[in-house]
Parts: sequence; structure tokens; C-alpha cells
Amino acid sequence: MVNRPRLEWSDGKLRYLDQSRLPHESVLIETDDHRVVARSIRTLGIRGAPAIGVAAAYAVVLAARACGAGPEQARHCRDAITHLSETRPTAVNLFVSLERMREQLEAGASAGDADLSRRLEAIAVAIHREDQDACARIAALGAPLIPPGSSVLTHCHTGALATGGGGTALNVILEAFRRGSVRTVYVDETRPLLQGARLTAWELVQEGVDTVLITDSTAGHLLKLGRVDSVWVGADRIAANGDVANKIGTYTLAVLAARHNVPMYVAAPVSTVDLLTVSGDGITLEERGSDEVTSFGGVQVAPDGVRAYVPAFDVTPHTLVTALVTDAGVVRPPFGETLRDLIGQRPRAEVNR
Ligand code: MRU
Repeated sequence: MVNRPRLEWSDGKLRYLDQSRLPHESVLIETDDHRVVARSIRTLGIRGAPAIGVAAAYAVVLAARACGAGPEQARHCRDAITHLSETRPTAVNLFVSLERMREQLEAGASAGDADLSRRLEAIAVAIHREDQDACARIAALGAPLIPPGSSVLTHCHTGALATGGGGTALNVILEAFRRGSVRTVYVDETRPLLQGARLTAWELVQEGVDTVLITDSTAGHLLKLGRVDSVWVGADRIAANGDVANKIGTYTLAVLAARHNVPMYVAAPVSTVDLLTVSGDGITLEERGSDEVTSFGGVQVAPDGVRAYVPAFDVTPHTLVTALVTDAGVVRPPFGETLRDLIGQRPRAEVNR
């Protein structure tokens, strides 16, 4: 297996590869400043729902370490949490992590905790460890769903860089590949920022997988030709009824997969399930700047004055999802009750305080 660089926490610093510059440049960021982490999340240097959640937790620790103990430290951490929560609206992992950090912060602050940053660090490390475990379980549970000789299609990037561990949907595909089941992986380039072309193809090629890059609009043609046996994607937020918010274009793929009777699998940790949001209609979908579509690689490709509509995500109705592959189990329709039970059993890592 290729040793891929991941989010790393050591000596009070967070280290990560700037995903916005891959694969042409491998820029390793090392920072002890929570604002640098927030900026990276906003600019997609750190992206992918689980990775955003893990990085945000460490960013709160960085904020705590930047101040001496006392009310000033607690205030600084609260400001950091607010700042981080404003970076991206859709991935629920960000808010779940920040809420856990806030709980610890408020408990410690009201008790006059002189060791607050160490306790916050323990929670962040636990969030990270839980994500690593979740990724491993998702791969083990999902791989048997890919029968030998399969060709699969994936969208966006759901590999190691997008998580604190080995990845979600892409981790399933890689595990199935290692078991000898995957013939070819078709990768949507994933407009507009090319997470598929830049990151998924990069990870798969390094692993020696037969990888075929396609434009997003080629997917329907490929499915019609019968060349795809299953479709695998991740999620930024899964509503209580099983509706899935994920990278723009996922809904299109789901409709096409249903039209051609091809299974559509969504792989995500239970930390991506948001029981407080009843259905996909309640999910805030981020809109990004028009330059992400009117320019390509920094070169303007559309006329001055044109408007662009750039949602980063769409919602796939649960009726189009064959199964949710989570770390707590593979869930098939009807999703509602099963998802609620799973959240009750959400695995949490032991916290070393
Ligand atoms: O805008 P991005 O690149 O952060 O969007 C990411 C996705 O849509 C992923 O599919 C999702 O976060 C799952 S990553 C394991």
C-alpha cells in the first residue's frame, strides 16, 4: 500500500498537505495558528467532510494553546469556534466536532480548569481516532458489496486526504481492489474544482488501480453501455430520512444509476448523519464564487458580465440510494428508524485525559 500523507498532529502543530494544490505541487502546511486552518478549510486546502471535522477540532486546540489559562483563553477559544463554524456550511462533521470541543471548553471554563488546552487536545485526538476507526470499518463492511470483476464509478474525492483515516467510498473501492474484486475504476473529473481528476485519480494511480478519468457528462453514456457495476460516493451530510448532500453532480449520477438499475452506494461515517435535519430540504448547500466556473486553472474562460450559479453540493433523495455504508453497519431502505438506532450506538473513542 502507498504511504499517503495525512492530517498529522504533533508537538502542538497541525500538518497537512494543501489539497488545493495537488497533484502538481505537494505543499505541506505546518501551523500552530487556528486561523491558518480556518483559511485552509475555506479555500479547500483541507476538504472532505471528515477531514474538515478533524482539522477544526485541532484548530480549537491551537487557539487554546495560544493563550494562558483563564477567562481570556476561554473567550479566545469561543471566538475560534465561531470563526471555524463560518468556514463551510454543508459538512455536518464540522459542526459535530466543534460542538464536542465547545462542550469540553464550557465544562473546563466553568470549573476554572488550568489545563484546558490539554483536555481539549484529548477530545481532538479522540475525534481523529474515531474517524480512523470509522474509515477502516467502512472499508471492511463495504468491500464485500463489490463482487469480483466489478467496474465501479466514483465522484469527487473520498480517499485518505478527505478524512482523518483511510477514506470512505474510495477506501471501500481500494479495499475491494486489494481483495482482487475491482477491474476498473471510472473517475468523474468533478467540475468545477476537479477533486476527481486531481485527487481521486492521483490516489488510485499511486495504488496501481486501472483508472479511467471521464468528464462528469460521460457518466450517463458509460452507464447506458453497461460498463459500470456500481456507483460509490461519500456524503457531507445525511438527513434523518436518508437524503444525502454530497458534491454537486451526485444527484445526477444517482438518477442515471437508477435509470440503468446500477446500485448507488453512499459510504460515510455515522458522524455525517444529522438526525436534527429531517430531510435534505433542510440542508444548507454552500454556494461558491462564480470564478470557480468562469475561470479554469486561473484563466478566464467565460465572457465578462456573465453570471454563474455554483452550488458546491446537491441533495440525492433517499429513494435513489441503494444502501448507506457506515462504520456502524450497512443500512438499506427504509433508512429513518435504522439511522436513529445507529446514532444511538455511535462509537466514541476513549478520551485520554
Ligand atoms: O467541496 P468538497 O471537496 O469538500 O466536497 C467533498 C465531498 O463532497 C465529499 O464527497 C464528502 O465530503 C465526503 S469526503 C470523505
